[in-house]
Amino acid sequence: MRKPYKSVFGAALIICVFVLLYTFKMEKVKTRRIKIRDNWFTSNGPPVLADTHHFVNTKSNITSGGDRNALLQHLSERYGPVPFANIHPRSTDLTPEEQNRAVTCLRNAVKDRNVNGSRFWGKEEHIRTTHHTYLRKKDAVMIEIGGNRGDDAAEFVKLYNPRYIILEPLEEYFKLLKEKFKNNSRVTVVNVGLGIKNEVVMVNIEGVDGDATSKFTGSNGKTPLYITNATNFLMNLGVGLFDVDLLTTNCEGCEYEVLETILSTNLINYIKNFQFATHSTLKGLEDPLGRYCKIQELLRRTHKPTYQYRLIWESWRRNDLL
Ligand SMILES: *[C@@H]1O[C@H](CO)[C@@H](O)[C@H](O)[C@H]1NC(C)=O
Ligand SMILES: *[C@@H]1O[C@H](CO)[C@@H](O)[C@H](O)[C@H]1NC(C)=O
Ligand SMILES: *[C@@H]1O[C@H](CO)[C@@H](O)[C@H](O)[C@H]1NC(C)=O
Ligand SMILES: *[C@@H]1O[C@H](CO)[C@@H](O)[C@H](O)[C@H]1NC(C)=O
Repeated sequence: MRKPYKSVFGAALIICVFVLLYTFKMEKVKTRRIKIRDNWFTSNGPPVLADTHHFVNTKSNITSGGDRNALLQHLSERYGPVPFANIHPRSTDLTPEEQNRAVTCLRNAVKDRNVNGSRFWGKEEHIRTTHHTYLRKKDAVMIEIGGNRGDDAAEFVKLYNPRYIILEPLEEYFKLLKEKFKNNSRVTVVNVGLGIKNEVVMVNIEGVDGDATSKFTGSNGKTPLYITNATNFLMNLGVGLFDVDLLTTNCEGCEYEVLETILSTNLINYIKNFQFATHSTLKGLEDPLGRYCKIQELLRRTHKPTYQYRLIWESWRRNDLL
């Protein structure tokens, strides 16, 4: 005869074990310390950039790592001094017409986010990788800001295998990404995040597998994130001497700073496709909806959306390519 109390007891026991295991794992992730490196920033940004610059600029196979001095010497003998594009500021003041559209955008923002979000998640979300078929050409250049564990990156590699620079500020994931793509000479992983200025921000590892770790969750943590000035980074990479086919940004709130920084100079003219997520509900972010609506207007001067789930994920293409 069945004894129902036995199976109930069994189920409760199993749940308890899972909860304990999960708590233990999260605790381990939270308390892991990452050593702060001294003098990491130079006036020109992180030292690794010289390598990636040449990686992109000269179509060589060289990736970062190994004996840096020997590598730099080899590069300068082979390619000469690093040139920079002429990057200059552009106005971010909205015209009255842009201002009017931004007001309408703000009025609809919450509704758009709800409606668009319910269509995107779990249904149409793979558009963020499948959409970019233009990357299938031989020398496509792609930059991803916020690599995390490389799930999207693995898709991009599988679909298009572009020349690919992945930025990941968490050292733990940087190492994981390097390992994951070590056999692919077209992928370069850089241990840095992008923002308005060079800074080191202390955060806690948050979310499942740390995928929600952010400078904007308002916590003073133990893990350093190294952030570098987006303009400086892209200039050092040589953007402006060549176009980036796709810049994609998914960095737990840093999207606003990255977009605003790039939209404040003519660097935006060298980004053929700009895709970004919008973590507008993060509590440490200042005025995300207002900033989103302004960003829409600044981007609209040079680009048009090719798909758009407002305040969720979207991608814009430069006008001359439409
Ligand atoms: C890149 O690597 C391939 C295979 O190892 C080699 O044939 C090619 O010459 C390399 N290209 C450059 C520019 O070094
Ligand atoms: C986003 O939401 C608006 C309504 O708020 C709707 O008109 C639009 O079609 C939605 N876009 C997508 C891609 O679902
Ligand atoms: C890289 O290539 C080596 C040798 O071919 C192989 O043993 C290893 O599993 C590969 N690693 C990854 C991450 O694909
Ligand atoms: C970011 O870098 C650019 C280019 O070097 C520089 O002009 C700008 O002042 C920097 N911005 C900040 C906030 O440091």
